[in-house]
Amino acid sequence: MSSLTIYQESSPKPLGVFTETQDIGRELKSIGVRFRRVDASVALPDGAGQDEVLAAYRSVVDAEKAEHGYNTVDVVRIKPDAPNAAQARQKFLSEHTHTEDESRIMVEGSGCFYLHAADKVFQVVCTRGDLISVPEGMRHWFDMGPQPLFAAIRFFIRPDGWVGNFTGNAIADLFPKYEP
Ligand SMILES: [Fe+2]
Repeated sequence: MSSLTIYQESSPKPLGVFTETQDIGRELKSIGVRFRRVDASVALPDGAGQDEVLAAYRSVVDAEKAEHGYNTVDVVRIKPDAPNAAQARQKFLSEHTHTEDESRIMVEGSGCFYLHAADKVFQVVCTRGDLISVPEGMRHWFDMGPQPLFAAIRFFIRPDGWVGNFTGNAIADLFPKYEP
């Protein structure tokens, strides 16, 4: 189940927890993050490749590209037995920013975004059918969990725009890791 937990940036004690899509969307909108559910009822075969995933979500992908200026999309998929699972988890587990939006549709499994806005941290567990767009420059980190299992459609404006700029702030260590 998707959820949002809000914290003060200095404490891992939750200030509030939301599980209804409209509540999550409203709270995230207040910090400039787009969040909504898209129709993810298309069952993807186990070995579905990028083309099949994109075909299944074509209408929402095309609408996102047109509305927000994304030029390219791809599909990233990771399973617990992937040889690079531990490194992949580690890679974005520290606070960073990007020079373009980090926009995703989760199409399989789950993952957890932590968004650092003003003096708060918004922990968003994303599951199949969630569309989330973290705006350019927002401090955040991402935890795919100890047994990573997710597939996401990713949207890009510039091919090189989605490089992580790490802030050096160890804030991520203060908050609970994602343990689905
Ligand atoms: Fe990121």
